[in-house]
Amino acid sequence: MNSTDAIAATTRFCAVFGQPVRHSASPAMHNAALAALGLDWRYLAFEVPPAQLREAIEGCRAMRFLGLNLTVPHKLLALDLMDELDFTAREWGAVNTVRFEAQNESGEWLPLGRFGAVIPDRIRTVGFNTDADAILRSLEDDLGLRASGLRVVLLGAGGAGRVAALRLASAGAAELHLVNRTESKLGPLREEIARRFPATQVFLGYPSGKVDLVLNATSLGLKASDSLPVDLARFDLQQAGAAYDMIYRPAETPFLAEARRRGCRTANGLGMLLYQGARALELWSGRPAPIEAMHMALKQQIYG
Ligand code: ATR
Repeated sequence: MNSTDAIAATTRFCAVFGQPVRHSASPAMHNAALAALGLDWRYLAFEVPPAQLREAIEGCRAMRFLGLNLTVPHKLLALDLMDELDFTAREWGAVNTVRFEAQNESGEWLPLGRFGAVIPDRIRTVGFNTDADAILRSLEDDLGLRASGLRVVLLGAGGAGRVAALRLASAGAAELHLVNRTESKLGPLREEIARRFPATQVFLGYPSGKVDLVLNATSLGLKASDSLPVDLARFDLQQAGAAYDMIYRPAETPFLAEARRRGCRTANGLGMLLYQGARALELWSGRPAPIEAMHMALKQQIYG
């Protein structure tokens, strides 16, 4: 089955919901993967306003969709809309992947992808978070960094920054230096890390010494007119061994270009996008994701 083959009455569907969603590279990535796996499934994208997220999910349940990805602004709202939350969604406090499940004859809940022509009437939604692990996997694959013992400067304490901080701490990061424009967000995050992952030392503001990684989780760099997310008067990028930008469009943000000039190894957030999608597909299909096909499709879609 090729993704360019005609859609038939037997074709099954997954989708991403976001607002905006037009820029999303997930359909290209997932449809390439579905073609590589030979599945007669398609992956669609829908612009869904937050006030209609519940209705949109219910529509997909009624239409026997296999699964959903959720992006801005839905990841927190969805926590209250799921029938069940996987450990990952509870642990990291956000849902970016939904799996529709039904019960087999022994009463076991299975992904809808495991059912053939006859799908039971009673379907449940289970929320997962595949973003958090994707951060660690991308740091390891793209920069050769393992979280354990890592000293990190984290720029940004919004939704993405919070998940990065918690996941790094849970994986044994030694030091987190938290920086955010709105400093009042840092205290609660420091307290949460101290309570849940006390082995990680948390500092507010820039360090004076060396770190292994400086990670941009702010939205600065998406627009050409943006200022740098890091204050170079307070932190010399030479102090960092590596720099990671969660932004992947443009491929090299001014932050990454500056870090590279200052001798850092660098990587952008394409790996995060890839690995969160790969894990979502594995949750829906029960099969290993075709990483290479997904990576190629992403690069083609985003960089041409
Ligand atoms: P996401 O879910 O992508 O993390 P978010 O929760 O809105 O989005 O967080 C955006 C991050 O980028 C925040 O750290 C935000 O800083 P504030 O907490 O001060 O809002 C940061 N950010 C966005 N625009 C910024 C700007 N112009 N200058 C500095 N930081 C900015």
